[in-house]
Amino acid sequence: MTEDLTQLEILTALEPVAEQNLNRHLSIAKDWNPHDYVPWEEGRNFAAMGGIDWEPSQSGLSDVAKAAMITNLLTEDNLPSYHREIAQNFSLDGAWGTWVGRWTAEENRHGIVIRDYLVVTRGVDPVALEQARMVHMTQGAHAPANWGGFLVNVAYVTFQELATRVSHRNTGRVCEDPIADKLLARVATDENLHMIFYRNLCAAALDLAPDQVMPAITKVLVNFQMPGAGMPNWRRNGVLMAKHGIYDLRQHLDEVIRPVLKNWNVFDRNDFGARGEAARDELALFLDKLEKDVLRFEEQRDRLLARELEVAERATPSAAAR
Ligand SMILES: [Fe+2]
Ligand SMILES: [Fe+2]
Repeated sequence: MTEDLTQLEILTALEPVAEQNLNRHLSIAKDWNPHDYVPWEEGRNFAAMGGIDWEPSQSGLSDVAKAAMITNLLTEDNLPSYHREIAQNFSLDGAWGTWVGRWTAEENRHGIVIRDYLVVTRGVDPVALEQARMVHMTQGAHAPANWGGFLVNVAYVTFQELATRVSHRNTGRVCEDPIADKLLARVATDENLHMIFYRNLCAAALDLAPDQVMPAITKVLVNFQMPGAGMPNWRRNGVLMAKHGIYDLRQHLDEVIRPVLKNWNVFDRNDFGARGEAARDELALFLDKLEKDVLRFEEQRDRLLARELEVAERATPSAAAR
């Protein structure tokens, strides 16, 4: 049996791939300015400067849009936690180090632009938002299965970047405001480019050490948690977002997991030894179960939404009679 490669050996072997993908990223990524996406003329002072403080009637966002915006923003706010994980497990030398810095700087824009939009448009309560940010950032990202060594981290961030892309994109849709939609489409485009970098690096790792990488991929998917897991109101907001198709189990399976596994050719490759085979088998079983869970989730959601519609129609008989 061949010896496992050390993390340093893997990082050294993949450095040329990191450099190639860094250059690819830099040639494609467009520079953009958060201030260009915020309707500043809608802004006004809060009470501390002689204006009025936030009240719910000022917000044009639905409860679902508010929940999604807060969840996405707090997730972006926790960047120092993700930076720690990435910086500790990717090398800070050469192309690796340049990527870590560049990626962190790009991610920081996401929190800036979403917060500016929400505060200027009075979309959410800025005091509650600040309290939640303090709690969430003080805790840090605390889902141990998401993180741990280069291989687990690079597999996790591949799925996580794609998941946040889906979530931002659909949040833009439910805001029913073309400005928010444009802003979140911009952020989602960044997440997609980040996903491609990590996906390509994980693919190269898979070619280099298939029996070491496959177990990392399985571990990440079987235990997958969104990066914001554990933030204030996490469950309530997550349920709302799933119910309204912003990020649900069907999207997780069909738009996040399956396209990446297909890109890596996971189920058609023949370079695994016993360890890789076992991890792939475990993943296949997990995906079968997930598919069943997805169907159950969709049935329950359809029933729930139909019932809510019925109740709403009964409450306004004139609407039903029209
Ligand atoms: Fe982001
Ligand atoms: Fe990202």
